[in-house]
Amino acid sequence: MSKTHQAERLDAVVVLAAGKGSRMKSDLPKVLHPIGGRPMLHHVLETAVALSPQRIVCVVGHGTDRVQASAEACIAAHPATGLRFALQDPPQGTGHAMQCALSVMADGQPEGLCLVLYGDVPLIRAETLRKLLSAAAGAHGFALLTAELADPRGYGRIVRDAQGQILGCVEEKDASADQRNIREVNTGFVVLPKAQMGPMLARLSNDNAQGEYYLTDLVAMAHAQGTPMVGVAVSDFSETLGVNSQSQRADLERRFQALQAEALMAEGVSLADPGRIDVRGQLLCGRDVHVDVGCVFEGRVVLGDGVRIGPHCVLVDVEVQAGARIEAFSHLQKAVVGPQAVVGPYARLRPGTVLGEGSHVGNFTELKATELGAHSKANHLSYLGDATIGAHVNVGAGTITCNYDGANKHRTIIEDGAFIGSDSQLVAPVTVHAGATIGAGTTLTSDAPADQLTLSRSRQTSIARWKRPKKVSH
Ligand code: UD1
Ligand code: MG
Repeated sequence: MSKTHQAERLDAVVVLAAGKGSRMKSDLPKVLHPIGGRPMLHHVLETAVALSPQRIVCVVGHGTDRVQASAEACIAAHPATGLRFALQDPPQGTGHAMQCALSVMADGQPEGLCLVLYGDVPLIRAETLRKLLSAAAGAHGFALLTAELADPRGYGRIVRDAQGQILGCVEEKDASADQRNIREVNTGFVVLPKAQMGPMLARLSNDNAQGEYYLTDLVAMAHAQGTPMVGVAVSDFSETLGVNSQSQRADLERRFQALQAEALMAEGVSLADPGRIDVRGQLLCGRDVHVDVGCVFEGRVVLGDGVRIGPHCVLVDVEVQAGARIEAFSHLQKAVVGPQAVVGPYARLRPGTVLGEGSHVGNFTELKATELGAHSKANHLSYLGDATIGAHVNVGAGTITCNYDGANKHRTIIEDGAFIGSDSQLVAPVTVHAGATIGAGTTLTSDAPADQLTLSRSRQTSIARWKRPKKVSH
C-alpha cells in the first residue's frame, strides 16, 4: 500500500496520557516532563502529526488542565490536524482509556485505522510507525509492535501458535511460569481497525490480576475472530522505552541528545565530545563549525560557517555569523553576533544585543538592547544597556551606561570613533559625538562634542607633609 493511501486510512492517533506518574515524585504531570527542552508529550504529538492522521485524540485524566493546554499549544502549529481530548477519570487500564477515546471518535472514516501511542514514550520514530501501519493495512487492520528481549520482565508476553500466528498477549502478572519464559514482548504500539474497536472494547472485562481493562485482550479477540494481529519487530528497542521515573527520563534525555549529536556530526559539525552537548531546540550550523564541551543550545540557534563555540557556553535564540568566536563560559540570549566578532570569555549578551563585524566583547561585560558597531571593542568589566554604539569605538574597562533613572530607561548614543576612558559613567539620555574622547573616571551628564576631550574630574593634588595615622597602643 502506498504511503498516501495509508495516510488517508489513518483516521486517528490516540495518545494515552492519563497515567498518574507517581514514581516521578513531582507536581508536574509526567507527560509534561521535558526531553530535549520540550514536554515528552510534544515529541509524541509531533510524531503523530508526521503521520497525517485525520485527528489526534489525547486521553487525559491527571493534571488535565495543564496537559490539555500544553497539547493545544503544540498542535496550534499544525492547524490541519484536529485535536480532541477524552477524559479518563479514574484510569482503569489501557482498554478503558481506549473506550474513553472512542467516545470522541464517532465521526470520521469508519473504514479508517487507529494507532495507539503512549504520552510517556517519546522517542518512537514516525518511520517505525509507518511500517506498523502498512503491516496493519495488509492484515485486516490489526498490527502490534513487538520486541525480542533478553530480559522481558515487566512486559506483556506475545503468545504464538506452532505456525507463528499471534494467539494473544498475556500481562506478566497474569502469565503462567511457561509464558513468563517467552522473550517476545508487547511494546504497547498497536494499530486497530476503527470499525471493530467499539464492539471489541465493549467485550473487555477486568477479571484479571490487576483488576484493569486491558487493551491487550484485543489480541486474543482478533485471533478468535479469524483476523489475527501481525507482529512487527521493532529494529531499535530504545525507541519504545517509556518514562516512569526521573532516572528513566534522564536516560532517554541522553539517548535523545546522542541522536542529535550524531545528526550534527553527520552534517559536518565538529563536536569536541558528542556526549557533552545539550540541544534543547533547533541548532542550525554552517560548514566547519566547532563546538567545545559542555555547551547548551536552546530555542533556535544559528551558527554560520567557521563559527567556534568555546567550552561551557549557553546560547538561547542566538545567531552567530560566519567566522565569529564565542569563548568559554559566555551566556547569550536573543542576540546577533556579527561576522568575525569575538565574545568572551565570561561575556553576557542579553536580549536585543547586536554585535557588528569584527567587534569584541570581553570578560565580565554585559550588553542589553545594545548595538555595538563594526570593529568596536568593550573588552573588560562593562555594562552597556540601551545603547547605540557606532564603529571603531573603544569602550574602556569599567564603563557603565546609566540607563535607568529608577522609573524609565534612556538611551546612550556613542558615535563612530569615540574613545570612552575607563571607569566612566554615561548618564542617559546622553550622546558622545563622533571622535570624542571621554577622560577616565568621567561622569558624563550632558552630550560630549565631537573630536574633543571631555572629562569631569577634580584636579589631582598631593599633600607633601601629610602623615599616615599610626595605630594607638593601649
Ligand atoms: C502496557 C501493556 C503491556 C506492554 C507495556 C509496554 C496493557 C494492558 N499492557 O503495560 O502489554 O508490554 O504497556 O510498556 O496495555 N494509561 C492510561 N490510562 C490507564 C492506564 C494506562 O492512559 O488507565 C497510559 C499510561 O499513562 C501509559 C500507557 O497508558 O502511558 C501504558 O500504561 P502502563 O500502566 O505503563 O501499562 P503497562 O502495565 O506497562
Ligand atoms: Mg508501562
